[in-house]
Amino acid sequence: MGCFLYYEILLVTALLGTIGSSVGSDLDTEFYVSWAADHVKFLKGGEELHLTLDQVSGSGFASKNKYLFGNINMQIKLVPGDSAGTVTAFYLSSQGLNHDELDFEFLGNKSGEPYVLQTNVYASGKGDREQRIYLWFDPSTEFHTYGVIWNTAYILFMVDEVPIRVFMNNKALGVPYPERQAMGVFSSIWNGDSWATQGGLVKIDWSHAPFVAAYRNFQSYQAVASSMEGSEESEPLTPGQKNKLDWVKRNYMIYDYCEDKQRYPVPPPECFINL
Ligand SMILES: *[C@@H]1O[C@H](CO)[C@@H](O)[C@H](O)[C@H]1NC(C)=O
Repeated sequence: MGCFLYYEILLVTALLGTIGSSVGSDLDTEFYVSWAADHVKFLKGGEELHLTLDQVSGSGFASKNKYLFGNINMQIKLVPGDSAGTVTAFYLSSQGLNHDELDFEFLGNKSGEPYVLQTNVYASGKGDREQRIYLWFDPSTEFHTYGVIWNTAYILFMVDEVPIRVFMNNKALGVPYPERQAMGVFSSIWNGDSWATQGGLVKIDWSHAPFVAAYRNFQSYQAVASSMEGSEESEPLTPGQKNKLDWVKRNYMIYDYCEDKQRYPVPPPECFINL
């Protein structure tokens, strides 16, 4: 009887592909302040969160939960106006040596100049897999959704409904893949003006501080790893999504480590497989 129930639950979760989800839950219950409490504000009864950077400090928050696979996303409205030199990072990361990490880093710019979104993948402590794109909208005027879909076969980086990056499980090629350790969700805003804007040429103009990034509607679906081994899950994109990814690459991609011949005379093995 107990056994029956157990299998039934397994079956149900396998069909749904998720265990434990939180949809648009309060940010003050999902997250704690990890850096500079006096620069972090929870608003609207926890529905919205603001991170502030000024000359005194940056700030950050971290999730209480950790995830091993899942679909995790959040709506963010970036620093408006003159955001040059600021970096707002939204990422998943495990801790310790050989950590895994999936990064979104928003590099600010002067008023009217485009933000750059840099993504990176660390697996077993090794990153150096930067890609950079411009966005097809101004990310500082409205909230947009940023997140990852992460299972045993692939990682998708999503902006709203658009896949901007696919990182396949290339274990077979000897490329480490994040699949052994759970990751927390983090965000922070900090002074990156030594490198972020036009390669560090444009510094923060502190007369425009404080710089504020806003967050809302965190969604997390913890996936069941084993249910992901199935056939359809190993195909990361529908044809429509593949078209969108190609559209991003054609029109908005400004840097891809796979194409950086100075850095990698021979591109890393995953470059030949990832979409
Ligand atoms: C800032 O604007 C300049 C000029 O349009 C552009 O070259 C650069 O890529 C933009 N973004 C960053 C983060 O430097």
